[in-house]
Amino acid sequence: MKTLIIVAHPDLQASRINRAWTEAAQKQAETTVHLLYEAYPDKKIDVAREQSLLESHDRIIFQYPLYWYSTPPLLKQWFDEVLTYGWAFGPGGDRLKGKEIGIAISTSGTAASYQPGGYNLFTIRDIAKPVEALANYVSARYLPPFALHNAHHVTDEQIADSQAAYVKHLVEAQPVRYEALEIL
Ligand SMILES: Cc1cc2nc3c(=O)[nH]c(=O)nc-3n(C[C@H](O)[C@H](O)[C@H](O)COP(=O)(O)O)c2cc1C
Repeated sequence: MKTLIIVAHPDLQASRINRAWTEAAQKQAETTVHLLYEAYPDKKIDVAREQSLLESHDRIIFQYPLYWYSTPPLLKQWFDEVLTYGWAFGPGGDRLKGKEIGIAISTSGTAASYQPGGYNLFTIRDIAKPVEALANYVSARYLPPFALHNAHHVTDEQIADSQAAYVKHLVEAQPVRYEALEIL
């Protein structure tokens, strides 16, 4: 199983969580860590290079800080430009079929705020539904989200624990199972 981690953080040097996760992932075997903002400082994405990276891996993790309940802009651009008709979907567009797609998200909101009844109203699984829907659309299997909350108050020890949990997640996560739709 070869894992590709696509890290989309506009300022990794200033980051605590995504930098720690990136450093942990870089030590893993069979894992490629691809720093999107560093690869494309001019925001001109090399679509052929990205598609070839995707084709040579089985499991793809999008790792990013939550920005207005969504992805940083370069990752949205990446979705729009890389997942093309005839490649990811449409006639002959089966290159991601059967691969696994997951997300790893950091947030400044607390864990409790990302529960029903919390001040953010929705869970991370709810908020990241566009990525889950995208995975479904390209016939990939979706992994449960990995997250760390309360970004600006977590201790170094909590970040180290999260690094270890991330490494375990990268190896052990299993795709979510959907209830079969009953056709009446
Ligand atoms: C433009 C912007 C939008 C943000 N939007 C959210 C948000 O919607 N929810 C949230 O919990 N945190 C939000 N944050 C906080 C970031 O998610 C947080 O700083 C980041 O996850 C910390 O991770 P890092 O240590 O890797 O930088 C936002 C930060 C920025 C700069």
